[in-house]
Amino acid sequence: MSHKIGVIGGDGIGPEVIEVALEVVRAAGVELDTVAYDLGGARYLRDGTVLPDEVIAEWRGLDALLLGAVGAPDVPPGLIERGLLLKMRFELDLYVNQRPFVLRPAGSDAGPGHDFVVIRENTEGTYAGEGGFLRKGTPHEIATQGSVNTRFGVERCVRYAFELARSRERRHLTLVHKTNVLTFAGDLWERTFDEVAAEYPDVTTAYNHVDAACIYFVESPRRYDVIVTDNLFGDILTDLGGAVSGGIGFASSGNLNPDRSGPSMFEPVHGSAPDIAGQGRANPIAAILSAAMMLEFLGETDAANRIRTACEAAVTPAAAAATPASTSAIGDAVVAALV
Ligand code: IPM
Ligand code: MN
Repeated sequence: MSHKIGVIGGDGIGPEVIEVALEVVRAAGVELDTVAYDLGGARYLRDGTVLPDEVIAEWRGLDALLLGAVGAPDVPPGLIERGLLLKMRFELDLYVNQRPFVLRPAGSDAGPGHDFVVIRENTEGTYAGEGGFLRKGTPHEIATQGSVNTRFGVERCVRYAFELARSRERRHLTLVHKTNVLTFAGDLWERTFDEVAAEYPDVTTAYNHVDAACIYFVESPRRYDVIVTDNLFGDILTDLGGAVSGGIGFASSGNLNPDRSGPSMFEPVHGSAPDIAGQGRANPIAAILSAAMMLEFLGETDAANRIRTACEAAVTPAAAAATPASTSAIGDAVVAALV
């Protein structure tokens, strides 16, 4: 069966890493029927198009979307982020942003590895767009940017995290927030978490303030199995997660619509990296692993596992030393490692 996939290469290194990710998927024997969408900062600069409603309507008929990266230096900040990426997340109700972080021990004398997943709420919080200016441009100007947290939005995300934790070996879930200061949002999150926890007696739980979690990510990440947190904390923590897991070039993500009322979207956590665009130097592993996550979500579990195993084989210190540090060479090494 062929899967119908919308592909948005986007800006900078986006198209380069997505090309390699698609090659790996095909080499793993999965048939994709792809539709390319020319969207992102470059397209906006060319003709002013960001994300037309007709395109979103078309996407609703797809099985999934694969995105490289969007954002170009000459575009005003927020225009593409809000107009394209966040619009996708909100319009397609991609309410879970799932970001796994795995670090394997490099050798017998190496430090211990870790294996945890951050579930980031993906449609609310400070990202919702609440707020505005008063008296803009005057010495007394005011800017507010509120955090929107609905019981419905928090609960569905927390439930997803409990289900995921239940499916994993350790069955442990940590709520990360800042309940000692954000006493309204934090209270809603904590109460919701505790109420849902009562339905999952087989899942052990913990709570960390987000600032403490930053220390633990660096000093003792093995404590984590599944983490659930709000949109902004999740954004920041997952960059840190990438940094402590080999680098952001390895970090994959799935923007999920768990109810499957429409397509989910898969993208590397990294951005468009305009400084190295067009040089064939970008690490394609994050994009390849995002494509593997897409396959898993589409039920292609065997291919997804084979791709993940091949990525691991291709990035061992010995394999990395033998591979030129180029996008295509790393892609070839992953293809060669597929069994
Ligand atoms: C991410 C990115 C986006 C976010 C930006 C590009 C809007 O940083 O996916 O983590 O903040 O969510
Ligand atoms: Mn981010």
